[in-house]
Amino acid sequence: MKVITVVGARPQFIKAAVVSEALKGVCEEKIVHTGQHYDANMSDVFFEELGIPKPAYNLGVGSGTHGHQTGEMLMKIEDVLLAEKPDVLLVYGDTNSTIAGALAASKLHIPVAHVEAGLRSYNMRMPEEQNRVLTDHISHWLFCPTQTAVDNLKKEGIVQGVQLTGDVMLDSVLHFLEVARRNPQKAAIFEALGIAPKQYRLATLHRAETTDGGLEAIVRIFRAFEQLPQRVLIPIHPRTRKLAEQAIAQEGFHNIQLIDPVGYLEMLLLTSNACQVLTDSGGLQKEAWFMEVPCITLRKETEWVETLDGNWNVLADLTTEDILQKALHTVPDPAARGKLPFGDGKASQKIAEALKRETERVS
Ligand code: UD1
Ligand code: UDP
Repeated sequence: MKVITVVGARPQFIKAAVVSEALKGVCEEKIVHTGQHYDANMSDVFFEELGIPKPAYNLGVGSGTHGHQTGEMLMKIEDVLLAEKPDVLLVYGDTNSTIAGALAASKLHIPVAHVEAGLRSYNMRMPEEQNRVLTDHISHWLFCPTQTAVDNLKKEGIVQGVQLTGDVMLDSVLHFLEVARRNPQKAAIFEALGIAPKQYRLATLHRAETTDGGLEAIVRIFRAFEQLPQRVLIPIHPRTRKLAEQAIAQEGFHNIQLIDPVGYLEMLLLTSNACQVLTDSGGLQKEAWFMEVPCITLRKETEWVETLDGNWNVLADLTTEDILQKALHTVPDPAARGKLPFGDGKASQKIAEALKRETERVS
């Protein structure tokens, strides 16, 4: 069986790292990189560090408005699919690369496997919500990270092809955190940044809802960060860099340390050693939960509702007061940690097994 996997954005490389490993020996997999993320520290570093197979194609689509970016991906992915004639098209998550891959395949009657299916914020203004709802509705296999995701799909009448596998990001954390801890070069990041374990907070910001508020929104967030007792370290996403630099130049914040985006191994070390995470990222709020680091999610809703149990993750409005109040006064409840809502760390294996069963069925 031939699988074409379409990836394009940072979190998809991280998810593909563990799934591609599990697919070895199960099928022939070729990776198509749309080029949605292209800076070396948003793309190459993950392929190099995580041993992801080199993409067979890089479509070089780059940045653009939603229509231009998604449209160019759709045309170029179609060309690849016509040439390669795969049996399965595999996509991850909810980015423009996800919907472009799924739509190109679906129109050619190539069955789509969606990893991280069934997530919902129920906020259709989010580009990610549009992408994931549409992708789920044209997918043949829907690999769900949580029972909530399975239930969400059921509410939309999708039950066929749905499988609860657990979250591949848990597999990824369990595997790569150990790899990172064993690598003294990666551990050197603490000294290089002048930070000590548990003496800093870690933040990331990149979501459209955050940056759409412009400089004013970033200043409001940074005013809260400025008043926190520990330094706030921000590996800054390229989407937010200019606004963040402007905010610091304008307001003269001292408690905020902007750094370039880091590789995944360093990011795992920075997350596991932070005393708190503040983020609008989907992946990072979950990684914080996996590592038992309290998290403040700078959004009105989360798709990962399980993380809210016992205040390990709390939502904050994008106001200085709400962020500060939640960051300073939230106390997580250790008793809420008993459950395993994200599976057993073997999601990738389950996905590979499901696709293997399909190979055996068709051969
Ligand atoms: C995308 C996804 C989002 C995901 C995020 C992961 C969509 C609609 N959004 O958001 O769901 O959470 O990736 O990080 O697919 N840029 C660079 N260099 C790069 C990549 C981006 O400079 O390598 C800058 C460009 O100015 C670009 C902007 O970042 O316009 C936004 O990039 P884009 O891929 O459109 O969206 P993300 O915010 O990265
Ligand atoms: N990440 C990383 N380096 C960074 C920032 C984030 O490796 O400088 C990782 C993070 O640990 C998580 C993933 O990128 O695994 C999350 O990606 P992002 O926040 O860009 O997207 P989202 O998860 O919100 O779609």
